[in-house]
Amino acid sequence: MAAPKSSVRKGVLLAGGRGSRMFPLTRTVNKHLLPVFDKPLIYYPLTTLILAGVQEIMVLSDPRDLGSMREALGDGRQWGLTIHYGSQARPGGIAEGLLVAADFVGDEPFCLILGDNIFYGREFISLLHQAADEAQSRAVIFTQPVADPQRYGVVKLDSNGKPLLIVEKPADPPSNEAVTGLYFYDRRAVGFARKLAPSRRGELEITDLNRVYLEAGDLIAKRLGRGLVWFDAGTPQNLLLAAELVHVIQARQRTGIAFPEEIAYRQGLINLRAFYALVDAMPDGEYRSYLSSLRDEFGPAA
Ligand code: G1P
Repeated sequence: MAAPKSSVRKGVLLAGGRGSRMFPLTRTVNKHLLPVFDKPLIYYPLTTLILAGVQEIMVLSDPRDLGSMREALGDGRQWGLTIHYGSQARPGGIAEGLLVAADFVGDEPFCLILGDNIFYGREFISLLHQAADEAQSRAVIFTQPVADPQRYGVVKLDSNGKPLLIVEKPADPPSNEAVTGLYFYDRRAVGFARKLAPSRRGELEITDLNRVYLEAGDLIAKRLGRGLVWFDAGTPQNLLLAAELVHVIQARQRTGIAFPEEIAYRQGLINLRAFYALVDAMPDGEYRSYLSSLRDEFGPAA
């Protein structure tokens, strides 16, 4: 299988912060390494990036956690990726992360994902590919109606789905359409981010960057409809709900969610021989047993 041609090769994965909403779980462990059923939370956004066609990733994390992050993901070669690490010391906001990743991003479109965001659904992959194409000259956000829009970036769309306004955590939300933590940007994003001023909470807000695109008429919103699941797993309750969802689907359908080994092979980033070598090197357990069961479908390595 040949590696896919993608219009977005690079991805930034934000895995920083001290996870205060998850205290005391996060006293010694980075939030993004906590389990969602059978694998670390960060595997879910990581595999979303792979499905988007990204092959080079910069993971940004708190300096305290860079060591454990490196241990968890390595240099990415095992999955046919290149993973770089960057340090985001203080919580200066999501858009500040882009400034830290500026040299990595360079002069290319890229994808940005928050390390606690989980996406799942059949239609999702084609939306990712569309977004990657559109990000050649615009920015793309993904939205979903929620019951508690005050907790999120919120966008108001016109009847054609065109964004009219976007606000961060509004006390009085103009709609219930939340902005998820997955974004595609064209090459202008870092330059725009440099010009942002800190918000009242002292952060460079991703919503302010998205507003720059909106005002230029270059912000595309894609609604995640029925059947597409989005979780921001940043609280104990959501972490548990996400684990339950993954458990139910994997147990009932024998469909693996967010196994980087499987997705790297299906995306053509590693060959079958490399896939089996990864599986054979794993200790016995359910994770390995799922990947081994794919032998029936994948067949023998040539
Ligand atoms: C961040 C963004 C917000 C977005 C959310 C999605 O909020 O600022 O616009 O809706 O991620 O998960 P945070 O979770 O950092 O409070």
